[in-house]
Amino acid sequence: MTILTIETKPFADQKPGTSGLRKRVTVFSQPNYVENFVQSIFDCLEGIKGKTLVLGGDGRFYNDVAIQKIIKIASANGFGAVLVGQGGILSTPAASHVIRHHKAFGGLILSASHNPGGPDGDFGIKYNVSNGGPAPEKITDAVFARSKEIDRYLIVDAPDVDLSRIGTQHSAGMVVEVIDPVADYAALMETLFDFDKIRAMFAAGFTMRFDAMHAVTGPYAHKILEGILGAPQGTVVNGTPSPDFGGGHPDPNLVYAKDLYDLMMSENAPDFGAASDGDGDRNLIIGRNRFVTPSDSLAILAANAPHAPGYAAGIAGIARSMPTSAAADRVAEKLGIEMHETPTGWKFFGNLLDAGRVTICGEESAGTGSNHVREKDGLWAVLLWLNVLAARQQSVDMIVQDHWATYGRNYYTRHDYEEVEAAPANALMDDLRAKLPSLVGQSLEGRPVAYADDFTYHDPVDGSTSGKQGVRIGFVDGSRIVVRLSGTGTVGATLRLYLERYEPPHGQHDLDTQSALSPLISIADSVAGIKARTGRDAPSVIT
Ligand code: G6P
Ligand code: ZN
Repeated sequence: MTILTIETKPFADQKPGTSGLRKRVTVFSQPNYVENFVQSIFDCLEGIKGKTLVLGGDGRFYNDVAIQKIIKIASANGFGAVLVGQGGILSTPAASHVIRHHKAFGGLILSASHNPGGPDGDFGIKYNVSNGGPAPEKITDAVFARSKEIDRYLIVDAPDVDLSRIGTQHSAGMVVEVIDPVADYAALMETLFDFDKIRAMFAAGFTMRFDAMHAVTGPYAHKILEGILGAPQGTVVNGTPSPDFGGGHPDPNLVYAKDLYDLMMSENAPDFGAASDGDGDRNLIIGRNRFVTPSDSLAILAANAPHAPGYAAGIAGIARSMPTSAAADRVAEKLGIEMHETPTGWKFFGNLLDAGRVTICGEESAGTGSNHVREKDGLWAVLLWLNVLAARQQSVDMIVQDHWATYGRNYYTRHDYEEVEAAPANALMDDLRAKLPSLVGQSLEGRPVAYADDFTYHDPVDGSTSGKQGVRIGFVDGSRIVVRLSGTGTVGATLRLYLERYEPPHGQHDLDTQSALSPLISIADSVAGIKARTGRDAPSVIT
């Protein structure tokens, strides 16, 4: 076996963001770019000799090239085995499960999530640790520091492995196990949900459309929904992963999953519609004539989780990211369980899940999940919804309305200003932060401000602190404005504005969301000067 030591020079831009390193394919395909980053990760890990690494991605353009490089670098760095999904495929939640199930040292997930793919699209590499969750900041900071100094990487001189063939191969001395990407995950889902009840619901004529958006959940959804649960063929659409996601944008929101939305609002709507993103961790839930916001979905799933066998004993607690609406807080309050507010980024849920303090977590950015893995999980959310629908024998709309009548409704929207220039976006945030102390006790357009701060999280498990996680302006009436810069954009800055207003159980639950929130939208613009600073008249995306 020949281990080559290749000299290299650092790249200055290998700082992992909210979810790993994400860049254009044109950046990743520079000579040594992948090699440097992967070696920087391995250089920061202790005790990898002889251990197992899980490897897979969402099948986007460059997945195949990067996987072969990583296998050779892993071999040269002394890993004992790499478990890789057939065809290089592993959804993010499936990779998290495979890491846990096979007690691997960690895993590399190749994806840029919901960002477009293709030669001019995005690519990404994320390292997950042995609990199956994204590496904590301590590791990602060390990786970034290492990437700025790296002067060599190790790689074996060995042929590519054949990723189409399930079974054992070798890369120099290291075992490469090509595994069925769906099998372990499907078996896990079967332990959590009442598959018999869901099967009976489909057999009785329940109809559904699942849009895999030409991304990684296609094989999972075909196997689980149509194969195991007996949904009719054709329930899953766009179910073959394509390197450029069929030229689309694999983000399951009302803009990019418009076909599904239009269908669900039409006369021909099936009972249930759902979609997932590029790497399978996000979800979109739409009932016939009823879109369910991710924040509401989190609250409803938490309230109804005991309908599923995996959660029959009840849930220990709920966590949500700070910008996610407070709908779930009301469920936790009623159940008398712990509720945690964390910064944006799934990694912040890891400690709470590991410590058994929460069972269900969710984010406004279409992520929901539980303690079954350490990532958010798109298909899991879909299956839990199906389990709840099968158990309650009610429509999505009835379940949503019933929830609001019990807990009240948190009207909620997010306005994104994408690809704005970084300098004015940062200046906007700095100026807004500077204003915060003066806002408390003031009224903004007639609304008294209860608090105004830049969110700081104190992790109750490891005692760490994460500051500057987004500006919150809360009003005495329970409504709230949140402003932060996205940590996942790849070009310029993305400014996110989140707006929320609470309507009690007996209040008005059928207002148009944008009009219900328009006074807050106007306050946000005057406080932060969004239009003036960004030069935009309107947000690029409203969800
Ligand atoms: C990814 C992360 C999520 C996060 C989302 C939005 O999907 O996994 O945890 O909520 O991006 O992050 P952003 O920083 O762009 O608002
Ligand atoms: Zn994703």
